Amino acid sequence: MSLPNSHEALLRNRHLLQGRTALLGLSADGILAHLPAGGMVMSEHAGICASLAGHDGWQVCFGYDDPALAAGTFDTLLVFLPKARAELDLRLALARWLAVPGARIVLVGEKKEGIAGAVKQLKAVAPSATKIDSARHCQVWCADQIESLPEFSLQQWMTWTRIDCRSVSVEVSGLPGIFSLGELDEGTRLLLDTLDDNPLRSGSILDFACGAGTIGSWLHGWHEHKGQPPVQIDGIDVQSQAVVCARATYERNGVSGRILASDGLKGVEGRWPVILSNPPFHTGIRTDLSMTELFLRDLVRHLEPGGEVRLVANSFLPYEPLMKRCIGPVERLREDRRFTVYRAFRRS
Ligand SMILES: C[S@@+](CC[C@H](N)C(=O)[O-])C[C@H]1O[C@@H](n2cnc3c(N)ncnc32)[C@H](O)[C@@H]1O
Repeated sequence: MSLPNSHEALLRNRHLLQGRTALLGLSADGILAHLPAGGMVMSEHAGICASLAGHDGWQVCFGYDDPALAAGTFDTLLVFLPKARAELDLRLALARWLAVPGARIVLVGEKKEGIAGAVKQLKAVAPSATKIDSARHCQVWCADQIESLPEFSLQQWMTWTRIDCRSVSVEVSGLPGIFSLGELDEGTRLLLDTLDDNPLRSGSILDFACGAGTIGSWLHGWHEHKGQPPVQIDGIDVQSQAVVCARATYERNGVSGRILASDGLKGVEGRWPVILSNPPFHTGIRTDLSMTELFLRDLVRHLEPGGEVRLVANSFLPYEPLMKRCIGPVERLREDRRFTVYRAFRRS
């Protein structure tokens, strides 16, 4: 199987990885088999972590607050460029905390993902950084003798945003790299807007791809506002920051529900009478209908007979025919220029 460009670029420069090595932000498996020594690999993606388990000599950590992460333990810190710029600062801070004094940081990233701009962030903490290679549309940078950080706490990176929708106001936590940081996504707002005219028929709900827990906390507040009994809203997300944020958001707003880390619904037990979702975009890429269909079929397996799926998606995505095929007759509850909210009840 072919490796991502950044992994190929790293392999050309594997001689840079010396001593005890930590790989931070791995976004695909496959590379460990090509690397000589063991060490630690951190990914914020639950699915990647699961697929990395069992590689001899490599300890796998899920996200920035995995309890196995320890200060001053690595000689080389390999940092993969994350998509969000703010997450690079977080990743570099973790790298410096994990580093022994005088350690090396190697930064690898694709040009189209902004490695050139990201180097400013690297140089801010490691001014001696130099470019080592440019290949496979990527650049590889290296900084030696970096200054380690005495403290690192993910909590210190957490921010809070007040979100207002239909007279209900909730505080939602955020961390670098999380979806829709600091604001209510327009698609999510449209989904919440449907809940007044079309209330849910059960108070036991799954929010699939819950992000920072916005839907669950708002729904809890909405029921309180209406003087209705509290709801139980479980949430699932693949990203470690989302899991941390959703738990914090639930705690601050007094929401009941479990937050689980999972790549899709693989390995998730249980059925719910209602599933809500603002699903990840990649499950609905226009040309890849099979991914969307697979996602919906998985969803239905976790839906009680007669239960409801309500989701919001970009209007150009072909959710309607696929939901009809996989779940049951579909209604469009709301639409605007960009998004449509669909509802379907599972055939009994
Ligand atoms: C469009 S966002 C919605 C977030 C949140 N529900 C909201 O409305 O603000 C989609 C979420 O899907 C998560 N995600 C992406 N791929 C996933 C997967 N395979 N399994 C579970 N969650 C996934 C992302 O981490 C992201 O938080």
